[in-house]
Amino acid sequence: MKKAWFVVLGVMFAAFCFTDIAVAKEEKCITCHRGTSPGQVADWEASKHSGEDVTCSTCHGDKHKKAKDAQLAVLPDETVCAECHEDQLEQFVKGKHNFGWTSMNALPITHVEPDELIEGGRGCGGCHNMGVKSEAQKKEQRDKGYRYQNNSCDECHTRHTFSKKEAQDPKACEQCHMGYDHPQWEMWSSSKHGTRYAMKEKGKLPESAAAPSCQFCHLPDGTHTNRTAWGFLGVRLPLPEDKQWAADRVVILKALGVLNPETGEPTARLDAVKAVDLVRLTEEAWSTEREKMIERCKQCHAEQYARIQLEMGDAIMQKADRLMAQGIEIVAALYKDGIIKKPDNYSFAYPDLLYFMQTGGSYIDQVLLEMYMKHRMRAYKELAHTMRATAK
Ligand code: HEC
Ligand code: HEC
Ligand code: HEC
Ligand code: HEC
Ligand code: HEC
Ligand code: HEC
Ligand code: HEC
Ligand code: HEC
Repeated sequence: MKKAWFVVLGVMFAAFCFTDIAVAKEEKCITCHRGTSPGQVADWEASKHSGEDVTCSTCHGDKHKKAKDAQLAVLPDETVCAECHEDQLEQFVKGKHNFGWTSMNALPITHVEPDELIEGGRGCGGCHNMGVKSEAQKKEQRDKGYRYQNNSCDECHTRHTFSKKEAQDPKACEQCHMGYDHPQWEMWSSSKHGTRYAMKEKGKLPESAAAPSCQFCHLPDGTHTNRTAWGFLGVRLPLPEDKQWAADRVVILKALGVLNPETGEPTARLDAVKAVDLVRLTEEAWSTEREKMIERCKQCHAEQYARIQLEMGDAIMQKADRLMAQGIEIVAALYKDGIIKKPDNYSFAYPDLLYFMQTGGSYIDQVLLEMYMKHRMRAYKELAHTMRATAK
């Protein structure tokens, strides 16, 4: 009997020593954060990183050791991820997402919005926290007292699970690609493509059924480089061959502030727009992206079918541009005749569409901006995402 007790005690002692060693091996960060922020530790434990010995200190450094010195923790930027995921960062910096932060800051609208919405990372900055920030941009953020928003990689595979599956789901794109001026989510999810995707998820169509996701068309083969032909603004250089369309485009470019409305000469804003890759500047830059997209369509449609679909989008854009240019010229004439006053923000007595909805101007100015930000935007975005119903 006595002997049996010794065995039991012996086993218990060994077990105790073993767990003690296991606990001692666990990083102090993890142990303490199990108490202070258990949700983060659970997420990290669910990640591939935890099985690969990529621990809290790998990304956050080991300077912060106690509750009081939390400010010593490093908040890792993309270069930290690139220590192990160089390819993804390399692809990412070649794509449009890398310009999210810079393009937001390049617009006049940014300077009439509260900082909390920009560098603070709510509002515009919440969606535009994309792109490797320069040292100057990081300093500007720190000087304003904003410590976070250092990383773009956690936008699609969120911390601390950093899951590939999550990023492969179109829902990961919805959080930003939705709403007023870029309702790609609403358009895709209510199109044939999105409906099929939903049916597959519900098990009503087989796993093998073709249903393209945002990623399938825009991040093909897992690449992190993204760019489209028309982009957000739906303008490009050189001007179209059709004379009326070319003239309408010039009017729109003036109202975008990239051509001087009085002289037609390029303005400083054109350089800012070029610097953030906001428009395709050559025929080739545009057609490269168009052809890449056709390659995607060809996986499931006849090439000719796909081309016609996209060309119908271009034709709608041409018609929308006609209406837009007429609207711009009417408002410019109202300023000229003194019927309405140009908003104080505007440099010229000419509409400035890049103030978005913040004109500070008259009701007529608001209507023109709505025509631009809502109706023109949606006209070609809808054709690109092939659907009928529109988002509110
Ligand atoms: C003794 C407990 C304890 C230990 C050990 C500890 N932390 Fe923390 N950590 C905290 C507390 C408490 C906070 C502050 C939470 C708050 O702001 O509400 C914090 C904050 C943080 C932050 C956020 C910093 C910020 O600016 O918001 C990070 C990142 C972090 N810890 C990582 C780590 C890493 C990595 C280690 C190990 C090298 C570690 N922690 C060790 C308790 C601890
Ligand atoms: C693979 C890298 C990586 C690992 C591993 C990692 N983190 Fe983080 N963590 C990040 C990134 C990226 C951010 C966001 C930084 C930013 O926004 O500036 C972050 C932010 C944080 C924050 C501050 C923001 C918030 O949501 O509270 C805390 C606290 C934190 N991490 C704790 C931890 C703890 C605890 C561990 C270990 C269990 C851990 N991290 C492991 C990458 C990592
Ligand atoms: C010290 C190296 C290291 C660092 C730093 C690191 N990772 Fe990882 N990461 C890994 C390893 C190893 C894997 C697992 C690879 C595998 O299973 O193929 C992984 C896997 C991943 C995956 C795929 C997960 C899945 O579900 O398949 C993502 C996404 C990821 N990491 C993102 C990040 C991000 C974002 C950062 C920076 C915040 C980061 N990693 C920092 C080593 C690292
Ligand atoms: C809900 C998320 C979200 C918010 C909030 C948001 N944006 Fe955007 N923004 C996007 C997305 C997504 C795109 C790209 C859409 C597209 O190409 O159709 C974009 C495009 C842009 C572009 C054009 C970029 C380019 O190069 O094509 C600018 C400039 C811009 N936004 C500025 C702003 C400003 C300024 C604010 C705040 C007033 C703001 N955004 C608020 C998500 C957002
Ligand atoms: C726009 C969304 C998005 C952003 C931002 C993003 N990723 Fe990804 N990431 C994805 C998608 C989608 C996949 C899955 C690709 C696939 O299907 O193979 C992925 C996969 C990965 C993988 C797993 C690769 C593999 O083959 O297993 C790693 C590692 C990774 N990303 C790292 C990063 C890093 C590092 C960054 C920041 C530089 C980043 N990601 C930013 C969408 C994103
Ligand atoms: C955190 C917000 C955010 C998420 C998440 C996000 N995006 Fe974006 N996306 C943006 C912003 C902001 C821009 C405009 C970037 C710029 O200013 O240049 C953009 C631009 C784009 C563009 C380029 C449009 C052009 O001008 O040619 C494509 C394509 C795109 N995103 C696809 C995706 C896909 C697919 C996903 C999901 C895997 C995704 N995005 C997830 C914010 C986001
Ligand atoms: C069947 C392929 C396909 C799918 C699926 C798809 N897109 Fe697109 N997307 C396109 C095409 C085509 C364009 C227009 C390209 C051009 O300019 O010629 C486009 C354009 C865009 C643009 C640039 C601005 C615009 O709208 O014209 C963004 C941003 C974008 N898509 C995001 C998304 C997001 C987010 C999803 C998922 C909710 C998605 N797309 C689903 C094919 C697709
Ligand atoms: C992964 C496969 C896949 C890809 C890639 C794809 N589609 Fe589709 N598409 C489908 C399927 C399946 C349908 C539903 C066909 C039906 O209506 O019976 C569909 C429907 C459509 C429709 C509506 C047809 C109708 O009769 O209502 C259009 C338009 C369309 N696709 C255009 C495109 C374009 C343009 C591209 C490339 C930008 C593209 N598709 C890429 C699979 C795909």
